[in-house]
Amino acid sequence: MAGSGRDSHPPGDDIPDGIRLMPIDPVFREDPHPVLHELRERCPVHRDREFNRVVLSRFADVEAVVRSREYWADPRKALPDDPVRRFVADGVEPSMLFLDDPDHQRLRNLVSRAFTPRQAEQWRPLVREVARELLDRLDPGGADGFDLIEALAGPLPAIAIARILGVDPAEQAQFKQWSEAATTSFFDPFAGEDAQRAGEEAAAALDACLRSEIARRREKPADDLIGQLVAAEEGGDRLTEDELVTMCNLLLIAGNVTTTDLIGNGTRALLEHPEQLAALRADPTRIGNAVEEMLRFDPPVTVTGRVVPTDTRIDGVDVDARESVTVLLSAANRDPAVNPDPDRFDITRSDIRLLSFGGGAHLCLGAHLARVEAQEAIGALVARFGHLRAAETPAEWKSVPGFRGLARFRVRVDPL
Ligand code: HEM
Repeated sequence: MAGSGRDSHPPGDDIPDGIRLMPIDPVFREDPHPVLHELRERCPVHRDREFNRVVLSRFADVEAVVRSREYWADPRKALPDDPVRRFVADGVEPSMLFLDDPDHQRLRNLVSRAFTPRQAEQWRPLVREVARELLDRLDPGGADGFDLIEALAGPLPAIAIARILGVDPAEQAQFKQWSEAATTSFFDPFAGEDAQRAGEEAAAALDACLRSEIARRREKPADDLIGQLVAAEEGGDRLTEDELVTMCNLLLIAGNVTTTDLIGNGTRALLEHPEQLAALRADPTRIGNAVEEMLRFDPPVTVTGRVVPTDTRIDGVDVDARESVTVLLSAANRDPAVNPDPDRFDITRSDIRLLSFGGGAHLCLGAHLARVEAQEAIGALVARFGHLRAAETPAEWKSVPGFRGLARFRVRVDPL
């Protein structure tokens, strides 16, 4: 039941708070959904006492926040001690993910044409080729199988985006390494000092590589994604060099780990439900709907947020101007009010409602590409190996707040 005033529930109750709602907590990391169901049922508009933030978990509330034209996405507008401010370093112009209109609209208009569903379909053959190359190289191993993350889910999005961007083939392996190191340290506030330093060095190398790629396109126009972004024009306006670098970095940071996690989480769900694997095998054209169900069931991005511009009351809970509101995308996807029997994984489910790509003005730009990559990777894996199942070694979840993905997932290929 929602409360009223600044607190959403009586003191001393045991509604999960703070770390208990993050994958650093081992119970939440292993399976967040019982905790999220409890939260949604008992306190859907929840003031987290450990981090002093308001947390929403019902589908309707989460959707209203991400679609709101009033709420801000720019963390610099939050109160000085709000943890969301760490997403934008002092003196750095943020990517469009953290900008509001008119700046957001301007950047989005300049790049959105390169990310339509039609464009993503044109990248499908390239993605299919990457999946084939990776599966050709894969050693199915013995009883302990192979690590799906290392062999397929990790490399596929990184190689695909390097080729889509048009990075010099001689630099692609380096490029993939830099983008991984830079992304890891960007997202994980708990990464150690060494990982942070390695991340900063990788980000600098990536920056230099992108600037030289941009300079090459200015001299000699090209039809790859960097070339398209360099040439993008809207009403006489173009992206500056700094904006181009920030945009390419955003594509790597927002797109690689998330798609790896979708392929990992989705394959795991499939192998944990052998009847669903059999249904996909019986009719491979189900892969499109299967990936939607994978996105709903265990989404890679579990949390996002907005800053509230004025004093607001959400379902009886007061939120002050410039406080941030955290929305739980994974809890929303399993809200029984929109997806009946939400813990059932069913690749034939109809009318799937999901907020895994957010919504409104900041709806994920790469959603179509991510779908194509997951469809091609998982479709090819299932087609290639007659008999797949999880190996004995337990899967290992990562502990980065706001994300859900597997660090390791060993898969066995049994003889038929
Ligand atoms: C399964 C994989 C992915 C998931 C789950 C995901 C999730 C999300 C979410 C939830 C947002 C919105 C955040 C918010 O509103 O606060 C977002 C935004 C964004 N995503 Fe993705 N993403 C994925 C893959 C990709 C890929 C492959 C790319 C590009 C290559 C990409 C590029 C972006 C960009 C540029 C934005 C910012 C859009 C804006 O601010 O207008 N994403 N993504």
